[in-house]
Amino acid sequence: MTTAEKRHVLITGASSGIGLEAAKILLARGDALTVLCRNAERADATRAALSDSVQTCIADLADLKSVAQAIEPLLQNHMPFDALVLNAGLQYAGHGSPRWSAQGVELTFAVNHLAHQLLAERLKDHTRAIVITASEVHNPSTGGGRVGLPAGLGAMEGLHQGPGAPMVDAESRFNADKAYKDSKLCNLLMAQEIHRQRPGMPVVAWSPGLVIPRTSGGFFRNSRQANPLGQALFGFVARDVLRLTESVERAGELLVKLINEQLRQPGFSYWSNGLLGPGRHQLKPTEPSEEANDREKATMLWTWSSELIKSVLTPSDRLSK
Ligand SMILES: NC(=O)c1ccc[n+]([C@@H]2O[C@H](COP(=O)([O-])OP(=O)(O)OC[C@H]3O[C@@H](n4cnc5c(N)ncnc54)[C@H](OP(=O)(O)O)[C@@H]3O)[C@@H](O)[C@H]2O)c1
Repeated sequence: MTTAEKRHVLITGASSGIGLEAAKILLARGDALTVLCRNAERADATRAALSDSVQTCIADLADLKSVAQAIEPLLQNHMPFDALVLNAGLQYAGHGSPRWSAQGVELTFAVNHLAHQLLAERLKDHTRAIVITASEVHNPSTGGGRVGLPAGLGAMEGLHQGPGAPMVDAESRFNADKAYKDSKLCNLLMAQEIHRQRPGMPVVAWSPGLVIPRTSGGFFRNSRQANPLGQALFGFVARDVLRLTESVERAGELLVKLINEQLRQPGFSYWSNGLLGPGRHQLKPTEPSEEANDREKATMLWTWSSELIKSVLTPSDRLSK
């Protein structure tokens, strides 16, 4: 590590998984951390797992009102953050019907994209860099992106339909796996748009690779509810037989590596922790999918997401705009 100065990092999704591992390393390095957690219980557990020096702040990403309320004190109490790390995410692959956010927006899109757009919109002028955890499945020509229905936002009519739209393209029937891929495509497009708006700021999107911890929690916990045996078999084969997975600890290290090295590199970059062979990965700059490179679409997604957020929040929720 070359930079020794203490930084202040604001991160989502550091109560478990990749974000938690990254947070441990950042703390050991001496950085100050503010972690957004969905509720007080998760905030307590996060401080217990990390340190009492960690600031936690309640923001349920499935409730835009809760996110908006969290932003105001962040703006008032802090100097600019050195990095805003938008890492939280969920998926319900294997479930047949949609779940909804507090505002009635399809949950995968609401948590993975919309809540993060609200944070980015309000905080992008108060942070020196943004790092977004996306996924290679946003790209239909990658190994993960090829399995199942491909990512694709179409004309994004679902954004105009607003609450109650099961899919962003408003054409496909609800498919939880595609909803996840679409949300990760949104992560890439949002990164491109932030870069257009703030060209001098480092904006890093990255893909950690497939991470399946042995614990009962982790990213596949919701999918496991739908298909316990299938998911157990998938986890065992992918992780222990074919060795296609990255460890959660290593994925956390990679997130910190990107924060350390890219914080001083203005401009947009996308990094993928690609699989070289069994048990071997390499993090390297990668071209996003064609759709993720569509700058016009990136601006439309930002604008329409912003309108959707406004339409479901009351004026008092939007105070800090
Ligand atoms: N694991 C993989 O194979 C993989 C592959 C590619 C990309 N990714 C991406 O990597 C990121 C981190 O995933 P992970 O593997 O570390 O999964 P994880 O262990 O399930 O962690 C997800 C994090 O998001 C938080 N979160 C979810 N819903 C939330 C909500 N409503 N409000 C606040 N926080 C919420 C979780 O909080 P709780 O602890 O309270 O649940 C947790 O801290 C995600 O963006 C995911 O899309 C993962």
